[in-house]
Amino acid sequence: MSVLDELSTIETEVMAAVSGAADESALEAVRVAELGKKGRVSGLMKTLGGMSPEERQTAGPALNGLRDKLATAIAARKAELEMAALNQRLETEREDLTYRRSCSRRALLLDAGVRGVAAIFADMGFAVAEGPDIEDDFHNFTALNFPEGHPAREMHDTFFMKPDAEGRRKVLRTHTSPVQIRTMMNQKPPIRVIIPGRVYRKDWDATHTPMFHQIEGLVIDKSTHMGHLKSCLTEAFSRFFEVERAESRFRPHFFPFTEPSAEMDIRCDRSGKEIKVGEGDDWLEILGCGMVHPNVLRNCGLDPEEYQGFAFGLGVDRLAMLKYGMPDLRPYFEADVDWIKHYGFKPWLLPSVTGGLS
Ligand code: PHE
Repeated sequence: MSVLDELSTIETEVMAAVSGAADESALEAVRVAELGKKGRVSGLMKTLGGMSPEERQTAGPALNGLRDKLATAIAARKAELEMAALNQRLETEREDLTYRRSCSRRALLLDAGVRGVAAIFADMGFAVAEGPDIEDDFHNFTALNFPEGHPAREMHDTFFMKPDAEGRRKVLRTHTSPVQIRTMMNQKPPIRVIIPGRVYRKDWDATHTPMFHQIEGLVIDKSTHMGHLKSCLTEAFSRFFEVERAESRFRPHFFPFTEPSAEMDIRCDRSGKEIKVGEGDDWLEILGCGMVHPNVLRNCGLDPEEYQGFAFGLGVDRLAMLKYGMPDLRPYFEADVDWIKHYGFKPWLLPSVTGGLS
């Protein structure tokens, strides 16, 4: 058989082996057997030296051509196999990766809780209002009737920003109440808004994280009173906890920006493993509320002789803990897939009044 015939046989054979290689290691074996140091094609290259000049003139280019052709085919097949392996990995790991990313983000935002509560209030005719996370002293404290230097400011372990040129320090808002001020200054009553948002305090243990979520409510018109506050909140939380009626109780409390102020508890049963709302002999504190203080109305340019209303504020993270029976808040920030699965958060399930709350 002439050298050229032999080369053409080798080519057919190797090309078949290359396209038949099922994975990268099979392909590598073909490469080593042909083009490796001790490979068959490399061996033939070495015989060129012993050929006659005429023989070499045809065999040389043919051999070089074959070697290049095989090398190209092997590289192409390698790329193909790598792509297939990658696709297969993407296919099998796909669920985990997207699941983890979007779930952790969702858990971080506490969408289940925030959207659940927001959906209920939206259904009751509340609009959504928002404000900045970085607030000035006026909106976070002063306008809310926290006098300068008043110890009530210490109730919140505030994160302060570096002072500006005038020595004024902005804060990471310690509650969503500053958005009450922004709303009343920008909008004429009647006002009926809820304000979901992130808030910040220097705290870190099982039930406190330095960033958490509040939902604030504000209703201002000419005749709203404490009875409206009570019925509105009782109705909302009956829906949130999916019970016929969440019995509530209001304890006197103090907030500088409401008068009178109260904390709202709802009846629950803590004797079992899970907290059951709407039955039992225990009470669960869920929010702070009260009638908007006349000073606050005045600070926003509203006449307290004409306007009145109520406000409330609640910690969504805590509420979600109670609703889902979670002992610790910190995993919200850890994006642990097992934890996410355990509590059944699903990235594609958006809570609404009609579904996705439980
Ligand atoms: N802003 C208060 C807090 O963070 C809650 C609150 C809001 C109380 C509105 C009364 C009225 O503790």
